[in-house]
Amino acid sequence: MNHSINFWAVVPAAGVGKRMNADRPKQYLELAGKTVIEHTLLRLLSAEVFTAVAVAISEEDPYWPDLDVSAHKKIITAAGGKERADSVLSALKAIRTVASDDDWVLVHDAARPCITTIDIHHLIDSLKTDEIGGILALSSHDTLKSVQGDNVIVGTLDRSHIWRALTPQMFRYGLLKNALEAAEGNAAITDEASALELQGMQPKIVEGRPDNIKITRPEDLALAQFYMEHQND
Ligand code: C5P
Repeated sequence: MNHSINFWAVVPAAGVGKRMNADRPKQYLELAGKTVIEHTLLRLLSAEVFTAVAVAISEEDPYWPDLDVSAHKKIITAAGGKERADSVLSALKAIRTVASDDDWVLVHDAARPCITTIDIHHLIDSLKTDEIGGILALSSHDTLKSVQGDNVIVGTLDRSHIWRALTPQMFRYGLLKNALEAAEGNAAITDEASALELQGMQPKIVEGRPDNIKITRPEDLALAQFYMEHQND
């Protein structure tokens, strides 16, 4: 390796978020005076580690061009795709002429606006000497049930082995792009790690902070606002 390793952020932001029952995609709902996606992107930019942030936006999205952050010099806009994994792959392709295979990519959901600089640097510091990479995750405090049919419990999972996958998920550019291309069309790929797992790789877990929530349901906006008011990084 005779070049310096760059860090890139990739933000899938092309979902419609139908569980919010709102008049617009959830990343454009207002939270503490800004849209959700503005918080997310400004926090990634303020980590001061990324060469650029590639954002996947739906082609029918009328809101994105109106945001000041869309014109920021470190923001690259890519087309969104049918599924989250397609959007991530599209953003990776948008930086292919400037990124090297051994550069690091941190993929972070637009819908996780409470991400902290602390967590971004914790993930990077934990994994930067790793060959493959890994993800922020949280252990489960609840007992976990496996159900079938009409919500009938068929088993209890051993929660000491269960972690909830968060983002950012940090992988080498080349490995991640190959894994997502190999998995194209596979609906079971709901995060980046699962695409690498399908290739037989074993990404790592790095314990994240519980305030890094994903906006999914209407009540999550109030919770995100509460966390933001109590974060002091
Ligand atoms: O729907 P969910 O909360 O799992 O989406 C996670 C992230 O993936 C969101 O930021 C959403 O905008 C993004 N996404 C995307 N392209 C899709 C579907 C979801 O970029 N086709």
